[in-house]
Amino acid sequence: MTVRITPSILNADLANLATEVGRIPSADFIHIDVMDNHFVPNLTIGLPVVESLRKATTTPLDIHLMIADPDRWAPGFAEAGAESVTFHMEAAHAPVRLARELRAKGARAGVALNPATPIEACATMLGEVDMVLLMTVEPGFGGQTFLDLVLPKITAIRKLVSAANLDVWIQVDGGVSVETIERTAEAGADTFVAGSAVYRATDPDAMVKQLAGLAAAGFARCGH
Ligand code: DX5
Ligand code: ZN
Repeated sequence: MTVRITPSILNADLANLATEVGRIPSADFIHIDVMDNHFVPNLTIGLPVVESLRKATTTPLDIHLMIADPDRWAPGFAEAGAESVTFHMEAAHAPVRLARELRAKGARAGVALNPATPIEACATMLGEVDMVLLMTVEPGFGGQTFLDLVLPKITAIRKLVSAANLDVWIQVDGGVSVETIERTAEAGADTFVAGSAVYRATDPDAMVKQLAGLAAAGFARCGH
């Protein structure tokens, strides 16, 4: 089994995104945080920036939609060529229909859960998605402290995915760093967003590689 590092550009220099993405060639995907000031109390970047980034890099794009009414907006990101589009279960009106629509448009479909949302919210539709994103901070901002209370949720969803023999990636997002990534992988995560840890590092690509090594070591002890 393989682990993936999907750095978030939220803490990069937003005036020089193409350059910033070019600093992390070892990234498996580029994680792009789209916020609408409704679902979360922050406003970031939207579809036009994603369309421009799609032309600026060959690294696959991992869109994290922290927006209300993803049923309306998510398919546009798949049409823009994003390889993965994740919407929040707390915001979706018809999550099964939306996941199917994203897949039909050629994207991987992901569902995200806030820290306090139980995994049962998406357990019945694991066969409809390619990734489950478990937030390890309250969504909205980079640089927050990792919430250890999410670790049992990671283990529980990993058990469900293994028991059903599904190829669903388990992603974590928020406070992932050299201090937290190993125990997160050991709990069962295989895909890791890291924002400030990567872009505050002197050498962001070396940090991506270091995180990948630590994640692989932790995941080897996961037992699933
Ligand atoms: C937070 C975003 C994250 C954020 C992570 O709501 O979804 O992707 O950029 O930043 P760090 O790694 O600094 O917690
Ligand atoms: Zn994110």
